[in-house]
Amino acid sequence: MDKRYGISKWPDVKMINEKMDRLVNDRIYEINPKAMENYLSYFDTKCKGSKALIEEARKYIPGGVQHNLAFNYPFPLAIDRAEGAYLYDVDGNRYVDYLQAGGPTLLGSNYKPVTDKVLEVIKDHSPVTGLFHEYELKLAKIINENMPWVEQYRCLASGTEADMVAIRVARTFTGKERIVKVGGAYHGWSDQLVYSLHIPYTKTFEAHGIPSELSANTTEGYPGDIESLRKVLEENERAGGTAAVLIEPFGPESGTRMAEFDYCTKVRELCDEFDALLIFDEVVTAFRAGPGGAQGYFNVRPDLTVFGKIVAGGFPMAGGIGGREDIMSCLAAGVQAGKKRAYVGGTLTANPLSCAAGYYAIKEIVEQDAARKAGENGDKLCAGIQKLIDKYELPFVVWNIGSILHFEVSGVMYLSVTDPDIFKKIPARQHNIEKFGAALTANGIITLAGSRIYTSMADNDDTIEETLKGFEDVFQNIER
Ligand SMILES: Cc1ncc(COP(=O)(O)O)c(C=O)c1O
Repeated sequence: MDKRYGISKWPDVKMINEKMDRLVNDRIYEINPKAMENYLSYFDTKCKGSKALIEEARKYIPGGVQHNLAFNYPFPLAIDRAEGAYLYDVDGNRYVDYLQAGGPTLLGSNYKPVTDKVLEVIKDHSPVTGLFHEYELKLAKIINENMPWVEQYRCLASGTEADMVAIRVARTFTGKERIVKVGGAYHGWSDQLVYSLHIPYTKTFEAHGIPSELSANTTEGYPGDIESLRKVLEENERAGGTAAVLIEPFGPESGTRMAEFDYCTKVRELCDEFDALLIFDEVVTAFRAGPGGAQGYFNVRPDLTVFGKIVAGGFPMAGGIGGREDIMSCLAAGVQAGKKRAYVGGTLTANPLSCAAGYYAIKEIVEQDAARKAGENGDKLCAGIQKLIDKYELPFVVWNIGSILHFEVSGVMYLSVTDPDIFKKIPARQHNIEKFGAALTANGIITLAGSRIYTSMADNDDTIEETLKGFEDVFQNIER
């Protein structure tokens, strides 16, 4: 394996699934009430500034919060700044930052060599012009140099937009309508892809405000299960065929549901057999897995690749799609009547600021070997958390794919729709994770929704030690 990739070994999927089955069929392991009270008192005593701001924000912003990844329990923290491996809230409290803005800041937050270049661009060139700027070319080229199957690249505003555009392009190119995704996977919040989020086969459970006919051409396979994908493709074949199979290459929700190492190779083979395009959603895995993304790591060629946050290095307007030149040509912009094309717009999508931020971030990620360093931090942290799970004889499950670390204390996303009580069970298991996340926050650790950690190049032995201390404090307080 190319040493620049951040994944020292592919996790043991069978073992994870067995442990997760046990976890989700077990009782919920709660933090004892006295300890929980103490954790919550941290928020009341040490986070008064956040509390006051959020109370006021609730008057003007729905729920006071606009970030789905943010902790809302007991109330969201108001963050003042991010630097390297740390976040600082408005009350001056410091946290080890494992949210990393949802993944993109692989170099650590506010990485000076990138920030300085971006400031120069703003001062010297203007953040936006509405017209072509050389940084668009530089960004497309550096992506292509590292991910050669991305022959052409088009900037968009977010991962959600990029997923929307990918399926539109696939339909334009193939002339077919059906899209297959994997149950539980997240591909943004567009009408057609809010389908079976988090838990497989929950279909339109979370699609409030979306007319049901918009999901009519979206179907799903079961995570990691090639045979279920084949079945869906066969069914689609009888109904006009499949335009594209859209997958997160590490498995739904960045590997919350893992697949075996050869899964992507097998999906590629199926796509060839059924003449469907293969779309990799690399919003999280591009550059984080290593310079060539998940496609380079697995050596599997997607026809189209969806990019998000990291293509602007943690700056705004972060998204894009890339792929085979003949397919990408459906996207040529400009005024051209009569050509068969996927209509896509966006006044500010390709702008000097985000393109320069993306270009310099990718350049630094490659030059600094950031994926490998962040991956080593993920390995150390995972081994440390596993030791604590064993020490306290808890049923919790932890694994990492390099710098993406999953820890499951209630296994809510592993609930099954075959369980008649599933919808009754979700709230308690979800709240358990929220409480766990709040307890970690009170220990100075911010995670993604109490169940995921993104490590970065900025983590080090001190941040890891601080984190393990925090986990140990919470584990000690789990009710026996
Ligand atoms: C795999 C995947 N696809 C798409 C998206 C949506 O990206 P954005 O939040 O930029 O719209 C995300 C966001 O986390 C993601 O993880």
